[in-house]
Amino acid sequence: MISDRDGERITDGRSLSNSVGLLNPPDTEPERQLYFAGRIREILKETSKKKGRDIRFFVQTFGCQMNERDSEKMSGILINCGYTQAESEEEADVILYNTCTVRDNANVRVFGRLGVLKSLKEKNPELLICLSGCMMQEESVIKKIRESYSFVDLIFGTHNIYKFAELLYERLRSGSMIVDIWEHEKEIVESLPSLRKYPFKSGVNIMFGCNNFCSYCIVPYVRGRERSRSPKDIIREIEKLTSDGVREVMLLGQNVNSYGRGLEPPVTFPELLKEITGIQGLERIRFMSSHPKDLSDELIEVMASSDKICDHIHLALQSGSDRVLKDMNRHYTKEDYLLKIKKLRDRMPDIAITTDIIVGFPTETPEDVEETIDVIKKAEFDGAFTFIYSKRTGTPAASMPFNMTDEEIHIQFDRVLKTVQETARKRTEHYSGMTLPVLVESINEKDPSMVTGRMPQNTSVHFKGDSSLVGEIVDVRLTKCCGFYFEGEMIRG
Ligand code: SAM
Ligand code: SF4
Ligand code: F3S
Repeated sequence: MISDRDGERITDGRSLSNSVGLLNPPDTEPERQLYFAGRIREILKETSKKKGRDIRFFVQTFGCQMNERDSEKMSGILINCGYTQAESEEEADVILYNTCTVRDNANVRVFGRLGVLKSLKEKNPELLICLSGCMMQEESVIKKIRESYSFVDLIFGTHNIYKFAELLYERLRSGSMIVDIWEHEKEIVESLPSLRKYPFKSGVNIMFGCNNFCSYCIVPYVRGRERSRSPKDIIREIEKLTSDGVREVMLLGQNVNSYGRGLEPPVTFPELLKEITGIQGLERIRFMSSHPKDLSDELIEVMASSDKICDHIHLALQSGSDRVLKDMNRHYTKEDYLLKIKKLRDRMPDIAITTDIIVGFPTETPEDVEETIDVIKKAEFDGAFTFIYSKRTGTPAASMPFNMTDEEIHIQFDRVLKTVQETARKRTEHYSGMTLPVLVESINEKDPSMVTGRMPQNTSVHFKGDSSLVGEIVDVRLTKCCGFYFEGEMIRG
């Protein structure tokens, strides 16, 4: 564990609390954190009395659904500590940025925002600024923050979010910058509080970390090794969510298809899925991400035979060139990938298949991009996130020489994007005229007489309706295809 406070190295997390003279906080988790949350509540009661108002927090999330879910947990911890949610950064007493580092622009955005926070802190020196998440697992980032952003109050990483209450208490007591970054993951702490963004749908972590080490990707370095939660804990969490009114869950992992390896007794992802489909009251199940190398026939069968599992799979392609896929350490070929797509579509003709594509990987040439475009045309993706390769220090690809110039990469990127847009439009058309169950998520932003929801395929649908429908699953006829979304009419049952 790398854990230090004000430059002082502390080797045992517990010494943080001992250093401020606490009376025996519990040794077990999450009891220990509940204890610190209680201590913070006492402090906030006083502060609130002095200020004559609630003490508020604001959480800003960068990055993927893993971070979204972590932010819900950290917001839950803040609420447990006695804070209330602020509408904006300007009115917050604690600001938490949960950061991402998957591409360089994610880091640039956070450093840009820190400039804004500096001026907020100058106006309000009591403001507490906390940074967490993947970017904080990088030594160079911590060094830069120490040197140039010394107004930051608390920094912690991805492995110790459960300790947020304890770290915050330490900061409130000591008044100096706390940095607590663990190089390696420890145990999974269950039963953390959580403030869910939506009352009717929720992400559920089924595993943490990643063992795949794709050569361009920093995630395994900042999220640690793959750890699966026990099926019992997952089922218990989903049962609790459904009893709270959740209709849809999104099972989260960097590679859900390898779920269960290392568990005793071992469990496969399809086995877990099957068990989840049996949960009373749960209506929809989604999952992401799936790694193509581990997508099994058994999974396709479980998906096809359950009405609860949504007709959608996100299956990252990254590249269509066998040579580049090998350099990326992806462990499948173009042919393997296309065969899995064929199996999915043969068994589920209405399934939406979305993907991630990287353009400009160091060893990629324009001929390799041709192969990617060929896969996009053959697979007919319903949608794709296309990224320009971003060099991540410490990954194997960072030391590979480039075969294309920046200009060539941008030209190729535009070609890939255009092809993806063409297939996505064509696929969206495929659902025109169908009547599908839509989970209503919100009042339409532009027209308050309309609501917006999602089809099982994850495509958005707008139709006439009011706030009483939010959180309901209703049948909607898809009357007008508008490129990548639909307008529709609700069918009254
Ligand atoms: N585990 C997921 C999977 O393999 O499907 C991916 C998670 S990653 C957070 C999301 C996407 O970011 C990847 O699929 C990849 O396309 C993209 N990505 C990762 N590292 C990247 C890099 N260095 N440059 C550009 N895109 C990158
Ligand atoms: Fe990154 Fe590959 Fe792991 Fe996905 S599977 S998080 S792309 S290393
Ligand atoms: Fe997600 Fe970004 Fe971390 S994509 S896993 S938040 S590096």
